[in-house]
Amino acid sequence: EMLKAQDPSVEDRMRDLERFTQTVIQNQEEETGIRMVYTIPVVVHVVYRTNAENISDAQIQSQIDVLNEDFRRLNADADNTWSQAADVEIECCLASVDPNGDATNGITRTQTSVTSHGTNNSVKFTNQGGKDAWPSGDYQNFWVCNIGGGILGYAQFPNSGSAATDGVVNDYRYTGRGGSAQAPFNLGRTATHEVGHWLNLRHIWGDGGCGVDDFVNDTPTSDASNGGCNVGHVSCGTVDMVQNYMDYSDDACMNLFTAGQTARMRATFAAGGPRASLLNSNGCGTSGGGGGGGGGNCAATVSSFPYGESFESGTGDWSQASGD
Ligand code: ARG
Ligand code: ZN
Ligand code: CA
Repeated sequence: EMLKAQDPSVEDRMRDLERFTQTVIQNQEEETGIRMVYTIPVVVHVVYRTNAENISDAQIQSQIDVLNEDFRRLNADADNTWSQAADVEIECCLASVDPNGDATNGITRTQTSVTSHGTNNSVKFTNQGGKDAWPSGDYQNFWVCNIGGGILGYAQFPNSGSAATDGVVNDYRYTGRGGSAQAPFNLGRTATHEVGHWLNLRHIWGDGGCGVDDFVNDTPTSDASNGGCNVGHVSCGTVDMVQNYMDYSDDACMNLFTAGQTARMRATFAAGGPRASLLNSNGCGTSGGGGGGGGGNCAATVSSFPYGESFESGTGDWSQASGD
């Protein structure tokens, strides 16, 4: 809403993206081929004033682990309550190559005198006491700072703002699992929720009453957010999916994305989609090697990307380097 108020074209761009998304989803349903795992290179920008805000590498790694569990449905708390629960088949990697092509651990640390950044995007600009984004076509920018005001995190929808502010922001108290994270938001689900927004997911209640949609057909309609762990709560005549990552439940209560949400997120990676360029990023490749292609070991016979191979019979267009 803030970005819409700042720039009247945001509304149109988001409407265009919605049309694009629905077209891609239609085509996905007809598609019979293999599905590939999409990997997102992530750079974590820690912007801190106090020692507590300067969270450890281990705390950050635990957050990456949570994202990789939740988006692959490998989370230990996955259950069979909702049959539409799905493996999104999206993974994250901490960047290994920076925008200059040099090696990195995927974490930047910037000291600031700003006590709390709020949600005005100041954390995304070096000249406002934050840290400038890395190119958003090649990296997901993930800022960690003191947001304040009881806000756990916020994110920018695809195509809704400028590249300089594209990414997710997490308060340092709600980043990662265990360690310094504070209950009941200490299981890393704030980032799962924010990355959902960054991949074009709305809140499960659609931010409105029963008639307002999240544009996903396998999530039940709901008239408001649920907090705590409101299992069994009924609104709009059906049981709310309070276990969904896009509700406002406590971390320990959340455990799924649906197949419909999966289709919506994956559509952002389709040709012409707002996240497609990440598939050609060398952000998690090897430094000094010239970039492109994602740093894999595809043989020269692979001529178009993205390339998919299920390895059901033989190694396809890949070469086998050892007897493994
Ligand atoms: N309020 C934030 C948002 O709407 C984050 C909610 C995260 N919830 C959680 N259980 N960690 O983006
Ligand atoms: Zn949200
Ligand atoms: Ca729905």
